[in-house]
Formats: sequence, C-alpha cells, structure tokens
Amino acid sequence: MKEVVLHDKTFVKYISSEQIKKEVKRLAEEVEKDVSDIPVFVITLKGGFMFGSDFAKAFKKPALFDFIRVKSYINTESTGDVEVILNVTENIKDKEVYILEDIVDTGNTLEKIMALLQSHQPKFIKIVTLFYKPEAYKKNIPVDFVGFEIPKKFIVGYGLDYNELGRNLKEVYQLKI
Ligand code: IMP
Ligand code: MG
Repeated sequence: MKEVVLHDKTFVKYISSEQIKKEVKRLAEEVEKDVSDIPVFVITLKGGFMFGSDFAKAFKKPALFDFIRVKSYINTESTGDVEVILNVTENIKDKEVYILEDIVDTGNTLEKIMALLQSHQPKFIKIVTLFYKPEAYKKNIPVDFVGFEIPKKFIVGYGLDYNELGRNLKEVYQLKI
C-alpha cells in the first residue's frame, strides 16, 4: 500500500516494515550492552504496543515488563495536558528502568512519565524511543536511544494512530499535504 485514508486524511508510505525491523533489532542490541542487571521495560500504551512487543522479542537477556498509559493527543496536535490512565505495578525501586516509547514529540508525555516513575526511586531511568522529532522537542531530559529522527510531521502506523486508526499498519505513513 502506497497510501492509506484514515478518517478525513490521506497518508503516504514513509518507512517500510523491513527498515523498522532493522532499527528495532539495533536498539535491542544497544540496550542489551547497556544493562548490568535485569531491567524493567516500561512500555507506553497504546502507541508503544508494537514496538514494545518486537523489542521484547529482539532483546535476548532476562527482562521484566510493565505498562503505562497516558493520553495527550487530540487530532494531530499535542494538547500539553497529560492524563494518567494506567500506572505501573512492578516494583521498580533500585531497578534499571527503560521506557519504551513509540514516539517523542514535544516531550510533555515523557516528562510526565519520568516524574511518575522517578517517584518510585529506580536506580536509573533511560529512554528508548523508536521515533523522535528533534524540532518539536521542548524538554531537557536526554533521549538516550533513538531509532529514527524524523521531521515535525504527523505519522501513523506500527502502533501510532490518527484518532485511534492506523495502529495496525505494519509500515509507517506520513500525513500527505
Ligand atoms: P508529546 O507529549 O508531545 O511528546 O507526544 C507524545 C505522544 O503523542 C506520543 O506518545 C504519541 O501518542 C503522540 N504522538 C506524537 N507525535 C505523533 C505522530 O506523529 N503520530 C501519532 N501520534 C503522535
Ligand atoms: Mg496517540
């Protein structure tokens, strides 16, 4: 598929599933080298479900998994208002925590998640994101592991949605203008 229509918008193919697979494998290998204990991977829902699952399969050392869900986006704009819908249940005190994010845009969501996790006193928290929009990023928190640096354009697929549609696409598509 070269183009997909979701609700009122058209999206064009941007990144193939092969490219994604390759990047996910590279990220998993980098994190494998970084850990010195059993890590806790905190997968951010809903967007991170595909990345989280492929990353988990590519990561070859013992690991713990947990989930967090916050919501910030309405249509194609970040609202800046981040609501916690599901919090972690795993004990992360003194643990090596890696947040697995689908995408870091303004950083509002990340900042909120960091603050929530930090309150449980982990050994450290690092960020692993498949997509990162440097031009949109407004925070000082370092983004430790990045799959793809992309321009400030709206994308869908591989977990990412436009008003809940597009998550099941295995490639990534960019908004057509
Ligand atoms: P931030 O809080 O502005 O960094 O936005 C992060 C969240 O907004 C992500 O976890 C996604 O759910 C969503 N988001 C940001 N950019 C995009 C995009 O290009 N497509 C789909 N969702 C996005
Ligand atoms: Mg979303």
